[in-house]
Amino acid sequence: MSKLHLVGIGPGSKEYLTFKALKTVESSDILIGSRRALELFQDVCADKIELCVQNMDEMLKLAVSKACQGESVSLLSTGDPGFSGVLKPILKLAGDLDIEVVPGVSSIQICAAKLNIPWDVANVITMHGKGISEDIINVLANGKPTIILPNSTIEELVNFLIQNGVDPGREVSVCEKISYPDERILKTTLKDVLTEKFGYMCVLVVF
Ligand SMILES: C[S@@+](CC[C@H](N)C(=O)[O-])C[C@H]1O[C@@H](n2cnc3c(N)ncnc32)[C@H](O)[C@@H]1O
Repeated sequence: MSKLHLVGIGPGSKEYLTFKALKTVESSDILIGSRRALELFQDVCADKIELCVQNMDEMLKLAVSKACQGESVSLLSTGDPGFSGVLKPILKLAGDLDIEVVPGVSSIQICAAKLNIPWDVANVITMHGKGISEDIINVLANGKPTIILPNSTIEELVNFLIQNGVDPGREVSVCEKISYPDERILKTTLKDVLTEKFGYMCVLVVF
């Protein structure tokens, strides 16, 4: 029976790939993923199809249709497929298709690990692609560390928090490009985040 594998590849470095992810990918006919994700599997002999923000919907449909035709397809997801990953949109498209989720190390988990935060006592929030919700202001008042995947940029999120009354002196961390050679873990205050430049691969923690 056809199966679509949603494979979590972790935060980016090969070190965080699971054995299960590697085995699943190695036994697939087709890999679909971002350039960064495909680069992890240069030695794997499978058809490789690059996915980007612009062709995302088309590629998700392609993954489903190829799997329905009986091909073994691995759709690669950064971190874990079930957290702000491909699982949600694929469930809307997949109908009766059998899906296997291969969990990966989420950026949330690895950020918590880098900062020694037990994440069962943290607020864990994703705004990725959803816009900034005002609910965040109440969440930040509950005294727990809050680990956030921003909607788009760190600057947009920090400006929103300051404009909505969060103390600019509040202690925060930004974890950028975790597990890559140019990883950056910055401990600072909310307002001082705005003195730095960040790319899109960031997690914000508000203490
Ligand atoms: C589409 S979401 C995917 C989240 C992913 N499914 C997970 O479990 O980590 C992409 C966002 O995850 C975060 N992210 C993913 N990998 C990261 C990394 N290596 N370092 C920092 N943030 C990362 C960034 O906020 C990025 O914008």
